[in-house]
Amino acid sequence: FQTKGFAERVLRWQATHGRQHLPWQHTRDPYRVWLSEIMLQQTQVTTVLGYYARFLERFPHVQALAEAAPDEVMALWSGLGYYSRARNLHRCAQQVVAQWGGTFPCTAEELARLPGIGRSTAGAIAAFCFGQRVPILDANVRRVLTRVLGFDADLARAHNEQRLWLQAEALLPRTDLQTTMPRYTQALMDLGAGPCAPRNPACSQCPVADLCTARHEGAPERYPVKTRK
Ligand code: ADE
Repeated sequence: FQTKGFAERVLRWQATHGRQHLPWQHTRDPYRVWLSEIMLQQTQVTTVLGYYARFLERFPHVQALAEAAPDEVMALWSGLGYYSRARNLHRCAQQVVAQWGGTFPCTAEELARLPGIGRSTAGAIAAFCFGQRVPILDANVRRVLTRVLGFDADLARAHNEQRLWLQAEALLPRTDLQTTMPRYTQALMDLGAGPCAPRNPACSQCPVADLCTARHEGAPERYPVKTRK
């Protein structure tokens, strides 16, 4: 796989074809980005929009959320599902206030130690807010990258997952990270939500189709490979 040029192409595509007007884009406030990423973990964008606006209106900053009664947090979350997310959200806000004086830490490594923030969510916050050169690997991005790379090792095995993280790292932009990392990260999410769909991917609309191993093999739907749950 030809790594060189991948990030540049993805960035160019994002400028014209990526999503540009989601309410959590164009802010570098880690509280706002964190809240959006947690809501988006298992819920579609269109559903999240209303919840996100109501949450921010009631809890405009992390202190407000930390001080809230658990029942009120649950009431505002009600309908989004996966309620452990709401409990972790509240605990995370309290920890940011208690441990970090109300300011989110700025490295993926520190972010990933907070409740409810896994490695990919930590990477998203660090890239969007702090321009850190760190990858994300949520379900959509995992699909994009395994296809492009022709990565067919079984992701149910931890060491293969680890290898994919390393390959994801190698593809990241190397210059102007403060501006490129947020755009690159969004671009991979947008490719996964758009052309690189699980079924019937629209390869003709993909900026890296000619580099894509899965496309050359003629069977993009074969990826990602995962045997057990
Ligand atoms: N899914 C997870 N994070 C997202 C983001 N920042 N924008 C759109 N969809 C997402």
